[in-house]
Amino acid sequence: MKKPVLHNAFCDLLGIEYPIMLAGMGVFGRATPPKLVAAVSKAGGLGVMGCSGLSPEETRRRIREVRSLTDKPFGVDMLLPAKISESAPTRSGVQEQLRQRYPEHVAFVKGLIKKFGLTEVEFGNEIVINNEYARSVLDVVVEEKVPVFAAGLGDPGMIIPEGHAQGMKIFGLSGSVRNAVRQKKSGVDGVIAQGTEAGGHTGKIAAFPLIPQVVDAVSPTPVIAAGGIADGRGVAAALSLGAQAAWIGTAFLVAEESAIFDANQAQILEGDSESFQVSRIWTGKTVRTFYGDVSKAWDESGLVPLDAPYQRILMEDFIAAAEKAGRYDLTLNAAGQIGGMLKKRRPAAQIMEELVEGAVENIRRLQSNITVSLS
Ligand SMILES: Cc1cc2nc3c(=O)[nH]c(=O)nc-3n(C[C@H](O)[C@H](O)[C@H](O)COP(=O)(O)O)c2cc1C
Repeated sequence: MKKPVLHNAFCDLLGIEYPIMLAGMGVFGRATPPKLVAAVSKAGGLGVMGCSGLSPEETRRRIREVRSLTDKPFGVDMLLPAKISESAPTRSGVQEQLRQRYPEHVAFVKGLIKKFGLTEVEFGNEIVINNEYARSVLDVVVEEKVPVFAAGLGDPGMIIPEGHAQGMKIFGLSGSVRNAVRQKKSGVDGVIAQGTEAGGHTGKIAAFPLIPQVVDAVSPTPVIAAGGIADGRGVAAALSLGAQAAWIGTAFLVAEESAIFDANQAQILEGDSESFQVSRIWTGKTVRTFYGDVSKAWDESGLVPLDAPYQRILMEDFIAAAEKAGRYDLTLNAAGQIGGMLKKRRPAAQIMEELVEGAVENIRRLQSNITVSLS
């Protein structure tokens, strides 16, 4: 059978076949493990590995694992610090600050652990996302000559001179026109415009109004569309809005190669679009996640979540307790509104095939179903 063709100049920039990218998703390395990244790249897209929260050593190990699975291009994504935080540089330091400054929040989370019948455990990860941590992982990305780097939060400007010197393509995620313009000024090779419907950290503007405005504001810098894309109709719509490619997260969380917990995949497969809500309870920043019992308990408490990184470190204690007890349904499950459309687990290669074929069919359907003329 002949392979479908869906190809533009942006594909040539990255050396890929189709303008489809697996969004780099953090989540302690589970959402975009090397085998998922490699599967998307092998299928003609660009697999991007979320490395936020991983140590430099683990990041290097995973980069090498992707390379052992495919010789196709791939990328690494990280959340960079958006502003210098005055928090302690280590997790234990932040915990001490939490006890001194926010005893009510600490007591509430201890109460949550009791409420769900869990026991307190130590969360082993010392990483706090600060400049020092970001630099140490960026050094690995540069040393390993990763072809593509994307920054979820913060300014990727700090990696641009060295990255460009070795041919790396660098992207920044943006939820607003203002931020997209700032990223263009810092010299990125493309802006990923992410609508509020997306899973994970997200802004306030929906993809339909955001993407064409970002396209106009940063032209001729390429724009990649993110938020709410899970089938060929979404890919075709993204291209129609002026984007050069689609950046897809939630739809790949239910790929067979994704390593998120089964309970979290089930919440996505069984949820509808209203099941995925924005709150600050997990990280202190606005994140779209599955709305479950933990979200409800925070809402009912009337407590205002703390700023980053305090809220994240606070809630990681709860997450550790839930994981220890096997209550994965109570853990952070970042996912977007398009979760409502996802009803079955499939291999990543099949998801890719359906995205590409669906996009081709939709573009063809538009060409044949509509009569158009300007004069
Ligand atoms: C579980 C999850 C984790 C995410 N983690 C990151 C991250 O670490 N870095 C980042 O740039 N974006 C992250 N995102 C956002 C994605 O990169 C992407 O923009 C988003 O998933 C696109 O919208 P969609 O989920 O509707 O496809 C995350 C999204 C999800 C669902």
